[in-house]
Amino acid sequence: MTKIISFESSADETSVAIVEDGRIILSNAVATQINSHQRFGGIVPEVASRHHIEWITRVLDDALEIANVKPTDLDAVAVTYGPGLVGSLLVGLMGAKTFALAHNLPIIPVNHLAGHIAAANFNAPIIYPALALMVSGGHTELVLMREENNFSVLGETRDDAAGESFDKVGRLLKLPYPAGKTIDEMAHLGQATIKFPTAMAHEDNYDFSFSGLKSAVINYVHHAEQKGELINHNDLATSFQNAVVDALLGRTRRALQNYPVKSFVLAGGVAANSQLRQTLAELLEQFPNTQFIPVPRQYTGDNAAMIGAAGYWNYKNKKFAELNLNTDPGLDF
Ligand code: KG4
Ligand code: ZN
Repeated sequence: MTKIISFESSADETSVAIVEDGRIILSNAVATQINSHQRFGGIVPEVASRHHIEWITRVLDDALEIANVKPTDLDAVAVTYGPGLVGSLLVGLMGAKTFALAHNLPIIPVNHLAGHIAAANFNAPIIYPALALMVSGGHTELVLMREENNFSVLGETRDDAAGESFDKVGRLLKLPYPAGKTIDEMAHLGQATIKFPTAMAHEDNYDFSFSGLKSAVINYVHHAEQKGELINHNDLATSFQNAVVDALLGRTRRALQNYPVKSFVLAGGVAANSQLRQTLAELLEQFPNTQFIPVPRQYTGDNAAMIGAAGYWNYKNKKFAELNLNTDPGLDF
């Protein structure tokens, strides 16, 4: 049994977890700062770093206590080194390095995006080759995995990320940040009365674009305001969410047709979206040889357990880092 302690602090969640063999979560302590950023309508990097500093040792203590694990029981320290906000990443990285040095443990560098995908293992073991749709606040990526820890990006967004479009439409409707969950709930109450465009639906690639949709929603709202018309916000949420899900679905279907894989992973913060989960589950019924493995809802958002899951892949391949490991804010796959 390999026990890995993991640190995640790339955005506005400070988290430390202990995960056994990449799949069994012994603890996953998460402190969220969302309330501090809400009045600014987005994450304020300087505020985020300060909160991470305040929280990191408390979250670390919690993770050890909940798991009832002593540092001597651990095999390695995994840490997110990118992508993310440099000041935020640095706090988790310093915490991880200090812990590793104090307890003489090896350091495993983890890509945050790989972490989101690895969290599917908390549902069921990913079977390879696999396709993964990674949709978060900063990324929208369709990825082919020929084997564990091997990523080829088939397509990605050319402008806004899927989660970002939820958050921007939320801002327009004066919803609290981040708005994905609220729009998801509102969409259940509305009707798809407005036809928004699905970007690049006819293009023969796997890329995404969400800024045109965002502009269409903004134009719709401004136009209605100018004419003094009332907008049904629930209908708007339903119509907007339909367009996002359609765009994700179209590319995913094409990828599944062209790459006969054994499993399909849905990951990232937007993977919590109920319509997206439902629609993809229905699509996967048409691909009986491909198992649908969505990340369990409670692990779709940022958390350290997912870093422990991806860290285990690197641990098995002895991909360790030295104490001079630095952050890489722009890291990709
Ligand atoms: O993965 P994540 O926690 O952080 C990043 O690494 O970006 O993703 C956060 C994003 C936000 O944009 C948020 O609005 C979105 O995930 N989100 C959702 C839902 N829950 C969170 N989007 C749509 N529907 C949801 N239920
Ligand atoms: Zn994330």
